[in-house]
Amino acid sequence: MKIVMLGAPGAGKGTQALNIAKQYGIPHISTGDIFRANIKNQTELGMKAKEYMDKGALVPDEITIGMLLDRIAESDCKNGFVLDGFPRTIPQAESLKAALQLQDAKIDYAVDIEVPDEVITTRMSGRRACVKCGGTYHIVYNPPKKEGICDNCGSELVQRADDKPETVIERLKTYHEMTQPLIDFYAKEGVLHTVDGTKAPAEVLKDILGVLG
Ligand code: AP5
Repeated sequence: MKIVMLGAPGAGKGTQALNIAKQYGIPHISTGDIFRANIKNQTELGMKAKEYMDKGALVPDEITIGMLLDRIAESDCKNGFVLDGFPRTIPQAESLKAALQLQDAKIDYAVDIEVPDEVITTRMSGRRACVKCGGTYHIVYNPPKKEGICDNCGSELVQRADDKPETVIERLKTYHEMTQPLIDFYAKEGVLHTVDGTKAPAEVLKDILGVLG
């Protein structure tokens, strides 16, 4: 099963992608997590990506598309994957479609998690993320069992550098301009499903699993 998660920054893509990946035994691939791991390890890719991420802008397609296509060519993706944060532009979606077509495959589901901008800004200030496995929590709405520690892997939870209010506003602007058009793209492909992301995380998951069957 090949799944794309759509939605504004903070809509809950990462939270739900992790659940879906567990449920179906497929990898959760987050381009944001890949960039953050590269920043932490101070690689050349990470240093380039950081320039854009710190401003709330998108990392250029020339860097992002090749990186993602290499990742989905790995052997653990042969039964499918759940993409979180990719595609984010029409050229990214077209490149993904073309790469899958070469293997006679396609995206089976594009799940759009809908959340209004005003809810997003509140969510971001309370988000905490695992430095190791990418697990995502919220200090009020989705707290870890032990404060500051990831339930999945026991590593430390931190606040993301790009969750500052002024950067969140820029990320939302970038989303509406560059990424929202993907909703039409996947509607035309006949694979778009929209869920209400303002419900509690467990309810959102139930709705998504209902769509995926
Ligand atoms: P990325 O890491 O992908 O960030 P994003 O899309 O902005 O999404 P987020 O991770 O912020 O939010 P989310 O939707 O996953 O929400 P989450 O589950 O964490 O990208 C970061 C940057 O990298 C980009 O800005 C860009 O620069 C670059 N980048 C990445 N991919 C790229 C690409 N393809 N092309 C170019 N550049 C790229 O939830 C948010 C919070 O809400 C959490 O605290 C969570 O616990 C809580 N929460 C979740 N669900 C609920 C709920 N139902 N109710 C209440 N709280 C909830």
